[in-house]
Amino acid sequence: MADQVTRAACLARDAADPLAHLRDRFEVPDGVIYLDGNSLGCLPKSVPARMREAVENEWGRGLIRSWNDAGWYTASQRVGAKIAKLIGVDANEVIVTDSTSVDLFKVLSAALRLRPNRKTILGIRGDFPTDAYIASGVAAATGNRFARVDASDLIGAIDDDTAVVMLTHTNYKTGLVYDMPAITAAAQARGALTVWDLSHSAGILPLELGKVNADFAVGCGYKYLNGGPGAPAYIYAAKHHHAALDHPLTGWLGHADPFAFADDYVHAKGMDKLLTGTPPILSLTALDAALDAFDGVDLPALYERAQSLTSFFVALADERLVRHGFAIASPRDAKRRGGVVSLAHDEGYAIMQAVIARNVIGDFRAPNIARFGFSPLYTRFVEVFDAAAVIDDVMTTRAWDTPAFKARKAVT
Ligand SMILES: Cc1ncc(COP(=O)(O)O)c(C=O)c1O
Repeated sequence: MADQVTRAACLARDAADPLAHLRDRFEVPDGVIYLDGNSLGCLPKSVPARMREAVENEWGRGLIRSWNDAGWYTASQRVGAKIAKLIGVDANEVIVTDSTSVDLFKVLSAALRLRPNRKTILGIRGDFPTDAYIASGVAAATGNRFARVDASDLIGAIDDDTAVVMLTHTNYKTGLVYDMPAITAAAQARGALTVWDLSHSAGILPLELGKVNADFAVGCGYKYLNGGPGAPAYIYAAKHHHAALDHPLTGWLGHADPFAFADDYVHAKGMDKLLTGTPPILSLTALDAALDAFDGVDLPALYERAQSLTSFFVALADERLVRHGFAIASPRDAKRRGGVVSLAHDEGYAIMQAVIARNVIGDFRAPNIARFGFSPLYTRFVEVFDAAAVIDDVMTTRAWDTPAFKARKAVT
């Protein structure tokens, strides 16, 4: 199929694509094919001017007054409401605060407190490390336990001791999408709660956490949401949990009345109780502006576009790359795939460095995964075609086979 596709056909496909105009909302550097929006999204054009305003006017001139006058104090809730639309829940069920890791600590602790007679956080092997590390930390701090099983055994492993099932909805390494309705229903049927990490799902898949009756979720602001490096993360908690919700990171901004400066903590109502300390307003401002890139975007159509992009890359990989020793490590069924296609190869690190040197930017995940992400907001079909040609050439010429590309950098 892909062998019949020419570069001209890709250009024609891009020209006829009803979502192609969304790329104009982003700064994509000339000459670069950016296939790492799953790690750090491109800069939305709405961000620099908004940041200038926040730095020069709100901070520079408004100073402390901007907490009230520029909406800084309510930014966590305002930005949360924008993310709520992307994950299919109500505006007052999401708050933006801290990092995904810290937010996981809060929601796992809260879930354990909601199930005091159960002792297990249940997860799967091969999930993103921070999720497992935090779950272990929460379990150790609270006298509970963190258990992991293979993904295929997850539903069967939920039992009467399971307080919470924790899972990354779309796997970071393979792009495999787990069945949120089935896993949520199975957990709840056994009396357990669910915590979903949406870091590789929000902004690419059309999520419906409300319909699915998911209990809790967290996710990154800097991947498909394009909020910039270290953008704050978000927490979702279903409304019916708000009244009983309780967690140990009880900072002053989660207090019912922070500016009463009371000696003792009384938690706020609703999502506000999940706040801890002062939010990073400049990063929050960038994320706020970045989310406008989703204005008017039909999420099911966006995900269809993502599936077309990844399917095209899989077809090209079958035709041109598998013969170089790559194995496709992502699901072949596009409906079970998020935005990445991962190619396993023993020399994956050096290959990725050589490909990046030719301005096709993906990343590497140990031990052997060359990962390519296809953000449907700004990736073109012709770029997929050109990227496959570059990888093919790097392999044919063995351009990767030099010490310079084998030396590991700190961030891979
Ligand atoms: C699934 C998942 N969760 C969490 C994180 C990172 O969490 P944090 O923002 O706290 O570093 C990542 C980062 O890539 C991720 O892929």
